[in-house]
Amino acid sequence: MSSRTDTDIALRASKVSKSFGGVHAVADVSIDAPKGTITAVIGPNGAGKTSLFNVLTGFDQADAGEVTLFGKRIEGEPAWKIARSGMVRSFQTPVGFPLLSVWENLMTAGADASESLWRGLFRRGQWRGLERDTAARADALLTELGLASVKDQRLEDLTAGQTKLVDFARLLMVEPQMVLLDEPAAGVAPSGIGRLAEQVRNLRERGITLLIIDHNIQFVFEVSEYIYVMAEGRVVVSGTPKEIAEHPMVAEIYLGSSK
Ligand SMILES: Nc1ncnc2c1ncn2[C@@H]1O[C@H](COP(=O)(O)OP(=O)(O)OP(=O)(O)O)[C@@H](O)[C@H]1O
Ligand SMILES: [Mg+2]
Repeated sequence: MSSRTDTDIALRASKVSKSFGGVHAVADVSIDAPKGTITAVIGPNGAGKTSLFNVLTGFDQADAGEVTLFGKRIEGEPAWKIARSGMVRSFQTPVGFPLLSVWENLMTAGADASESLWRGLFRRGQWRGLERDTAARADALLTELGLASVKDQRLEDLTAGQTKLVDFARLLMVEPQMVLLDEPAAGVAPSGIGRLAEQVRNLRERGITLLIIDHNIQFVFEVSEYIYVMAEGRVVVSGTPKEIAEHPMVAEIYLGSSK
């Protein structure tokens, strides 16, 4: 990674720390997500992966450290501002509106960025006539993700795997440059993992940079170019999938902690 210049880096965390009481959830973590690549963060439950995502995306404040997004310092900025700078994230538990249809869920996500989510939600009666571009984008994404047949179903009636894909589609409605995914493969049936991997790679082909947390090691090895392994708040090993697969410490960390 040292051969890369700063301009090649989409997202950089330098010595980021976050504690909760006496728990060092994130301790001195430094990671790079090079532009146009897929980088992964793995590690056992409680390693600090989600806490790291929270501080990178402004959903929580780091105690120390620097974060740069496309060369611009963003630590301490609020989540909405970071999202508007082009970085969006998914949550470990998918968010969305359970009682709205899949299509409506995409439309709320694609509402003009200057509007609040709620305002977008209450304007939904006007969508079909007024927001053709957004609607066309929603339809295209639903087709691309294999969700066209469930577009009129309520989110609460979908399978866990379909809900994850809707969550994914909602992120893409805002045309981000950097996407952080917190366990995209969790709850997705084995038969759906291939499609998910394909979608993730499609994003990279479009020039989007990805940082992915997942416990599905096979999925991670398949899609990512570089992997950071966290344990007890720290990055303990990093390397290519091949290097990680062969690393004795990784096997040790994962023993008895598979999910
Ligand atoms: N809001 C919070 N308040 C107190 N402790 C927290 C909070 N969020 C996280 N922690 C603690 O920080 C540590 C790291 O948690 P985190 O959720 O970041 O781990 P993770 O790697 O995402 O785990 P998992 O794989 O289970 O999702 C854990 O010990 C957790 O209990
Ligand atoms: Mg987590």
